[in-house]
Amino acid sequence: MIVVTGATGNIGRPLTRALAAAGEQVTAVSRHPAAVPDGVRHLVADLADPAGLRPALAGAKSLFLLLSGDLHALGAHPAEIIGEAVDSGVRRIVLLSTLGVVTRPFGATRIAMRELEDTVRESGLEWAVLRPGGFASNALWWAESVRERRVVAAPFGDVGVPVVDPADIAAVAAACLLEDRHTGGAYELTGPEVITPRGQTEAVAAALGSPVAFHELTRDEARAAMARSMPAELADDTLDILGNPSPAELRVSPDVERVLGRAPRPFADWAARNVTAFR
Ligand SMILES: NC(=O)c1ccc[n+]([C@@H]2O[C@H](COP(=O)([O-])OP(=O)(O)OC[C@H]3O[C@@H](n4cnc5c(N)ncnc54)[C@H](OP(=O)(O)O)[C@@H]3O)[C@@H](O)[C@H]2O)c1
Repeated sequence: MIVVTGATGNIGRPLTRALAAAGEQVTAVSRHPAAVPDGVRHLVADLADPAGLRPALAGAKSLFLLLSGDLHALGAHPAEIIGEAVDSGVRRIVLLSTLGVVTRPFGATRIAMRELEDTVRESGLEWAVLRPGGFASNALWWAESVRERRVVAAPFGDVGVPVVDPADIAAVAAACLLEDRHTGGAYELTGPEVITPRGQTEAVAAALGSPVAFHELTRDEARAAMARSMPAELADDTLDILGNPSPAELRVSPDVERVLGRAPRPFADWAARNVTAFR
């Protein structure tokens, strides 16, 4: 049995589907009850309470570990989750980390994530680490204003990064959970091309078949909006990347193709599959 945390999110949903389709027994974990694919068991648990994961981890061979929101904040103790996995007899762990541990290793949230990677590596379990850059699904921040006013409001309209489709992250995660050859792998995951917020807006408009305007926010306006849904430091870090990506953050990584044997999906593909969120 494979335990998937973050199971109802952008990565967790396609990952749960892929593992179930591969014939695996899957336990999907999130804090709120949710519909899951046929044959998948859903358990409500909060990763902030690692001991509460024991019922999910009992009998599990592998764990996909995705931290969210407050679990990135100072004072959280996600390393205890790995201890629970070891004590429960889990043999393999795939950790969702971030490209920032490589490209900007000095912020507090990234130092904490790097330490968690070290804990995973030193756990004695088989492990793989996934380090994605910015997600295509961050465009969902714009869904309401596109639905209501056909406008995207975002900072740094002409500064792009190679955003990655969460479905590709899920596909790589599934490969790492199911195939032995990824043990000890640390994969940097990006999309196939640099795309700006203005370019993403055009792709959403094309998927909708109707024009969408682009309104450029100042950094302060964007920070105020983001700080409502993430720790302020994470908002600052994200804006630093979006406004001034380093060469390492602009690089298109070969790792999705290396693992999956096919190119990563472009943003336009994500927009077409998620167009109902913008209608
Ligand atoms: N967005 C980016 O550009 C980017 C870039 C690099 C890395 N990342 C990382 O990617 C992750 C987000 O992935 P995603 O977009 O797939 O997530 P998402 O769509 O935001 O979904 C989060 C999932 O985690 C669950 N969850 C949240 N808090 C939880 C808790 N305390 N205990 C148990 N389950 C919890 C949620 O369900 P419930 O709410 O029901 O619990 C949901 O299933 C984060 O770790 C982020 O740091 C993001």
